[in-house]
Amino acid sequence: MIVLVTGGLGYIGSHACVALLEAGYDVVVLDNLATGKEEVVTRIEKITGRRLVLVIGDIRDRSILNKVFDNHDIGAVLHFAGLKSPSESLLMPLAYFDCNVTGSITLLEEMQKRDIKTLVFSSSATVYGLPEEMPVTESCRAESPTNPYGKSKLMVEQVLRDLTATESEWRVACLRYFNPVSAHRSGLLGEDPVTAPNNLMPYVTRVAAGRLSELTVFGDDYPTSDGTGVRDYIHVQDLAEGHVATLRYLTSAEGFSVFNLGTGRGISVLELIRKFEEVSGKPIPYTVGPRRQGDVAECWADPAKAQRLMGWQALLTIDDMCRDAWQWEQNCQSHV
Ligand SMILES: NC(=O)c1ccc[n+]([C@@H]2O[C@H](COP(=O)([O-])OP(=O)(O)OC[C@H]3O[C@@H](n4cnc5c(N)ncnc54)[C@H](O)[C@@H]3O)[C@@H](O)[C@H]2O)c1
Repeated sequence: MIVLVTGGLGYIGSHACVALLEAGYDVVVLDNLATGKEEVVTRIEKITGRRLVLVIGDIRDRSILNKVFDNHDIGAVLHFAGLKSPSESLLMPLAYFDCNVTGSITLLEEMQKRDIKTLVFSSSATVYGLPEEMPVTESCRAESPTNPYGKSKLMVEQVLRDLTATESEWRVACLRYFNPVSAHRSGLLGEDPVTAPNNLMPYVTRVAAGRLSELTVFGDDYPTSDGTGVRDYIHVQDLAEGHVATLRYLTSAEGFSVFNLGTGRGISVLELIRKFEEVSGKPIPYTVGPRRQGDVAECWADPAKAQRLMGWQALLTIDDMCRDAWQWEQNCQSHV
């Protein structure tokens, strides 16, 4: 089967391309290079020993979508393309709704015209807003995300829910990622090193490498075991495998589904720092700053549904995450 991967040059999409190619799927990537880089294709091909097709263009551009669907017999779409920074979305909400919501609707309309009705959508744990209970199950309330980014993800989920309710032949899965981290074990793929890091792990690796002088820990007075925020970090390769499992699941599951993709284990900021120091042998100097607005004390997934229905579970440990993130950071530095 040929799978269209929107945003396939990005961090998670590129790892998903590797997993798809290794599982025997053919891959067409559509990416507008907003944050993705063309050189990623060579790296994916080096890891897998297989070729993919790259189309450069925007998911909001119907002529490009027509070209993709006319030239390739696409059987399913993994839809990663979008803007992803909660803090940036507070500054430019229109850009987020346009890219994430209008872009998704345009893609869906063009899929609908051609009867391509299998879709895996990159959603996010941010749709849960301030979760009411821990661990977070898919039946927890997802009504009030705290920023336009999270709202854009929830809106697309709602569009997909309504679409599948009207047209029963759609097969749609929304995957709510928890905190994707780390890099491909080959050291060839990882998070783009040129953008300012939004998340903890890239910050930690840059401090370890001496590219940043110290880390700021946002708040140590949360009601958690050591006072720092607790999150469910998941290795990006486990996440990528989750997409292959979802595609397989959708061959026998019509309609709309939602899955949490996380490990089910919460790790505090200080635990992550200590683990990284142990694995890398590098000290991570940090200072404690005030809490960041909108951050929750703790958030981790109950991933049991994905295990029960799709046979997927995260296998890689926090040690694996630190090791591969550190290798990627060192490889990036050697390319500078
Ligand atoms: N990284 C995370 O922590 C995280 C967490 C939850 C959900 N997600 C979601 O997963 C998806 C992938 O995230 P990522 O971390 O790989 O981000 P990324 O920025 O690395 O990748 C996104 C890719 O999409 C492309 N793109 C953006 N807008 C596009 C458009 N309009 N048309 C075509 N291509 C476009 C970019 O060039 C990039 O290659 C996103 O939808 C994101 O919201 C990410």
